[in-house]
This record gives sequence, C-alpha cells and structure tokens, in this order.
Amino acid sequence: MGRGEGVFLLCAVVLSCGGAPAPDRAPLTGPDPWATTLALPRVTDRAPDPRVVEIDLEARVGEWELSPGRRVRAMTYNGTVPGPTIEARAGDTVVVHFTNRLEEPTTVHWHGLRVPANMDGGPHSQPPIAPGGTFEYRFTVPDAGTFWYHPHVHEGVQMERGLYGAIVVRGEREPRADAEGVLLLDDVLLGSDGQLAPPGDLLEQHNGREGGVSVVNGRADATLALRAGQRQRWRIVNAGSARFHRLSLPGHRFTVVGTDGGLVPVPRAVDELLLVPGDRVDVLVDGVGAPGSATTLRTLPYARGHGAGLTQPVELLRVQYAPEPAVPLLSAPGPGPAIERLSAQGVTPREVTFNERVDRERERVVFLINNRSFPDVPDLVTRVGTTEVWDLVNESEMEHPFHLHGFFFQVLSRNNTPEADVTWEDTLQLRGHERVRIAFRPDARPGHWMYHCHILEHVDNGMMAAVQVTP
Ligand code: C2O
Ligand code: CU
Ligand code: CU
Repeated sequence: MGRGEGVFLLCAVVLSCGGAPAPDRAPLTGPDPWATTLALPRVTDRAPDPRVVEIDLEARVGEWELSPGRRVRAMTYNGTVPGPTIEARAGDTVVVHFTNRLEEPTTVHWHGLRVPANMDGGPHSQPPIAPGGTFEYRFTVPDAGTFWYHPHVHEGVQMERGLYGAIVVRGEREPRADAEGVLLLDDVLLGSDGQLAPPGDLLEQHNGREGGVSVVNGRADATLALRAGQRQRWRIVNAGSARFHRLSLPGHRFTVVGTDGGLVPVPRAVDELLLVPGDRVDVLVDGVGAPGSATTLRTLPYARGHGAGLTQPVELLRVQYAPEPAVPLLSAPGPGPAIERLSAQGVTPREVTFNERVDRERERVVFLINNRSFPDVPDLVTRVGTTEVWDLVNESEMEHPFHLHGFFFQVLSRNNTPEADVTWEDTLQLRGHERVRIAFRPDARPGHWMYHCHILEHVDNGMMAAVQVTP
C-alpha cells in the first residue's frame, strides 16, 4: 500500500466514526486526492503507547523541489519542505526530539497549540538552540484543529527558506467528509540565480515579501483530484511571509467548519475566504463540477495598504475532476460544538496600538506596538483566570495580521460593530485604522506569551511584545 492510500483509508475511518447523524451515503473510497504533488511526508511515531506521538525532527539545509527539475537550496525539517505533518488526537502527548543541524540558532514554535510556556519556542520561553544542539519538546495537545509549526528565530529568513509544517489534531466528533488533507500556502521570491532571494530592500522590509512563485504543500505545480459529488475537507494554512490570501474556487463554495481554534458552532457557506499570514481555516468543498472538468483555486487581488498586496490574481492549485460519474452530494453539515461567548462586562479594555516609523539614520523601518519596538515594549501583566479585553488599534494604513501565542481569543467587535459569530482565534486581520476588540482568559499556564504581527518582516523589525501571565 502506498503512502497516499494509507492516508486516505485513515481519513475515511476517522471521519466515519464521529457519532454524527446517519450518513446520507457511504463514504467514497478511491485513490488519495492528495497523492503525488500534494503529498506531505508523514513521520515515524516511535512511541508504543497509542496516546503518545513521539517523533524525531531535524532542521537542516536541503533541497526544495518547487516543480519537477526546479530545485532551490532551502532550510528543511527532516529534509523536506514542508516538514512532516504531525498527526495526533486531542489529549495526546506529543514528544519531539529536535536537533538543530543548521548553521544558525533556531527554535520550534507550535503555532496555535496550547502548550506550557517553556515549550512554546518564543524568544521569552527558551534560549535559541545553537547549531548542533538538541531540545526535547514535550506537551499535550488539548484541542482538535489545524495548527502548524515553524521557527521563532530570524523568521523572515528561516520560514521563508522553508521551515514550516502542519499539525493536525483530531477530536471525537469531526464533520463528515470523504477525504481530507492539508493545504499549506506559501510564496517564494527567487533571485536572478534561481535561488531563494536574501532579505530585500527597505520597501520589502516595509511591505513584507510577496514572492513570484506560489506553492501549495511546497509545490508550484500542485494538482488536487476531486470526484463529482465527493466532499473534501481542506485544512488550509497560510504559511507565507506577507501575502493575504483571498481564496476563490470558481463555481464552488467553501463551507467553513473550523477556524484557528477548532470547529465553529455554525458552519457557513461562503464564496471567498480570507487568510492572513499565520491563519488557518477548515472548509468542506463539495464536488459540484462535472466529471472530467477542471478548475483552479486562486488568490484574488488584495490591497493591504501602502500599495502592498497582490494586484493580479494568482493561480495556486489545479482542481481536476475524475472522469467517473457523480455520486450524490452529502447534506449540509450540522452545527459544531457550542462556544460560550466571553463578556467584556466590568473589564476595562487595554489599548494596544500598532504603528510604524522610519528610522532615517539607520535607514530602516521600525514597527511599533504601543509606540515601542521589540524588545523594548513593556510587558502587559495579567493573572491566570482573568478575562482580558484588548482593543487592538491600528494607527497605520497598512494591515497587520495580529497573532497571540498560547491562548485563543474571541473577536468581540470591529470598529464597535459586534461580531456575529463566536469563534476561537489566535490570528486575525487588523485592517488599516481599524479598532478590533478581543477577549481571552488565560488558563493555568503562566509565563511570558508573545503577541505580534505575523508579517515576518514586521516581526523582524520590532512588531512583537509579550503578555506576562502570573500564577
Ligand atoms: Cu506563527 Cu509567534 O507565531
Ligand atoms: Cu504562534
Ligand atoms: Cu504587520
């Protein structure tokens, strides 16, 4: 049995045993739609205990094949870009024996996982792992959802050069689908030598890098197979440096069943998705196209301030229908788990501002949180169990993808308009001159937790800070 078939059978089994309402029809079986160009490496779990996922992970220089014959020097986890997908069930213990074989220090951050502070890989939680050094990451994964991992040192270089991978945590009840898979979106900039370009000029430092080669699961020539009538679950991760992905699949809709923090209470069908850097979304896609037809997942133009952003659509992924006749479509998914709305009542919101300034002397742009730049931004201090309400205020025209480590938050309002849906998020879009009110309640994991903009050049230029959660 090939690797692809293994993934497919596993999905079919996991997705059919959810205690969900009786299926409209039996799950479709067939070849894995993610085979060949979209296949992601899996990793050997060496723990005999089924509730422990224990793996080896090594950061090292390697080759990245963007498309057949087109190879660039890259930084890899276990030799591939993206790195292996880490799969677990909610409540499992994950142990990662990490070795740094790069020539520079690095760490691993588990974006979206509610891990203890000393396992978070951020600049306050652990000193960078020196070349040749090792570290054992050990934590439990409490939440089902789609997450990802990446370094938290020289992000603009290490992530751009290929250090990232997906984490899939499955729960007891998952929406029914015939197949599921991860789509990691990225874009790279090649220099005149055909290799990944080194960090760029002032404009790139300001706008963030958007590269000319778009890749899905590391490949510029990716194709996904779909059967007419089939329902697929796409776990989409925006792993790019700066691109805002406004996704569209002509002739199809996306039914959003999950966001950063897992399943949403009310699935919604939409024509477009917006994923800012760092964001995830879980969608169901029904094969409403004709057998044998094809379409393309694309990113539409998006202006994110100061002239930055895509001005032309970009094709990401060819979606090819099999010639086999259509099977009946499944009915719309039922509601997801309820989420209790956090209340801002009686809480004085803290204001957190985002801005920028040009440092003419040193010819660089400096990105600011509360008018200071990392590491000089004073910590916010709170206590375990306290409801925190923050007003994120963008004082600049440029949009910033805000990300909080360690805890999921709810968006309460945008520019004083209450948010209709209650969801758990760790990454959000902060538009130019927008005020977004969020709330979160730190559980019993004290420590320093980073919050920052997820445009990598903005992190590198200071748009990062920490909230200190005391016991
Ligand atoms: Cu993907 Cu500090 O985060
Ligand atoms: Cu993170
Ligand atoms: Cu930013």
